[in-house]
Amino acid sequence: MRLVSAVLRSRAVAALASPHGVDRYLEQVNPLWAAHEVRGRVVEVRPETTGVHPVTTLTVQPTSTWRGHRAGQHVQVGVDLPGARRATRCFSLSSAASAPGERFTLTVRAHDDTDERTSLSRHLATRARPGDLLHLSQAGGDFTMHASPATPTPHPLLLVSGGSGITPVMSMLRTLLRDGYDGRANRPVTFLHYARSPQEQIYAEELAAVARFDNHVDVHLVHTARGGTRFSPAALARLVPGFRDTDTWVCGPTALVDAVAAAYDGSARLRVEHFKAPATAAGAGPAQGETSFTRSGLGATNTGETLLAQAEALGLRPETGCRMGICFTCTSRKTSGTVRDVVTGEESSRPDEDVRICVSAPVGDCSVDL
Ligand code: FES
Repeated sequence: MRLVSAVLRSRAVAALASPHGVDRYLEQVNPLWAAHEVRGRVVEVRPETTGVHPVTTLTVQPTSTWRGHRAGQHVQVGVDLPGARRATRCFSLSSAASAPGERFTLTVRAHDDTDERTSLSRHLATRARPGDLLHLSQAGGDFTMHASPATPTPHPLLLVSGGSGITPVMSMLRTLLRDGYDGRANRPVTFLHYARSPQEQIYAEELAAVARFDNHVDVHLVHTARGGTRFSPAALARLVPGFRDTDTWVCGPTALVDAVAAAYDGSARLRVEHFKAPATAAGAGPAQGETSFTRSGLGATNTGETLLAQAEALGLRPETGCRMGICFTCTSRKTSGTVRDVVTGEESSRPDEDVRICVSAPVGDCSVDL
């Protein structure tokens, strides 16, 4: 099999398959055969919650080209939606770390469709069926737990999440437990999650079972609409005294992540993942000038929002994936002007540069080839 893969990846085969590439031909025979690309077949669909924004876990069998993932990483998922449109979005992987070619799970919350467009998350959460084909990237991201039972440390761990931010930290917890973590490493784990209500709490049964076992994993589920105490440094200090010196991973809505980051006051023990780009531009000044989208001939007064938000406000529909600066799907050519990275606050004025429009806000006049 390794020999076949090597042949399929060879330059000679690539030349024969040009211009479409060998994967286009393999796909015709079996969608799960690929030499370069990564695809996946949905093999199981499991509802987690119902309601207006239901959550569903999909088990995916990837092609042998999948290189596996580390707990906490994400993957880009592309689906051919009705109307021959391929939509792409980034999702955290929710299962324990996977080996090459091994199955994994994605847990997806349905967002609302817009008037003209089916939301990819709603499609996956409510319409995906076993047998559906997904186009995938390799796993990516640095929000990972490098310490594991294979590389034991004597330090306690703290996992904090809110809403959909539970998926990457659940992957970490599942990895620890699958790999034989049982508390004897003298490394207690505190798992603290904020959901609005028990109805919106996913993985409730599994977490209850984890909490019951004698494994040194302390599970705290806070339901804010039921009067649960919202995050505060004092509340966290009661759960984990000395939390600033505890290896901590936090993922969730910007308000929660910002509050936790403020409580850690720059401690390098904290690792952060937003699941949404910050809504406000880091270090933003007053918005001035004109934003022009040259290919479409559209333009408007610069509102100071990201180029993506300004383009969409004008009715443009540039291709997007994660919408938070990770996947590069939205990369477009800025032909002139200055943009500020809304995550880092960095400015760049180089003409003819490729920028991620979902996290770039114009500073003054700015033109983009869209
Ligand atoms: S949409 Fe992913 S980087 Fe912009």
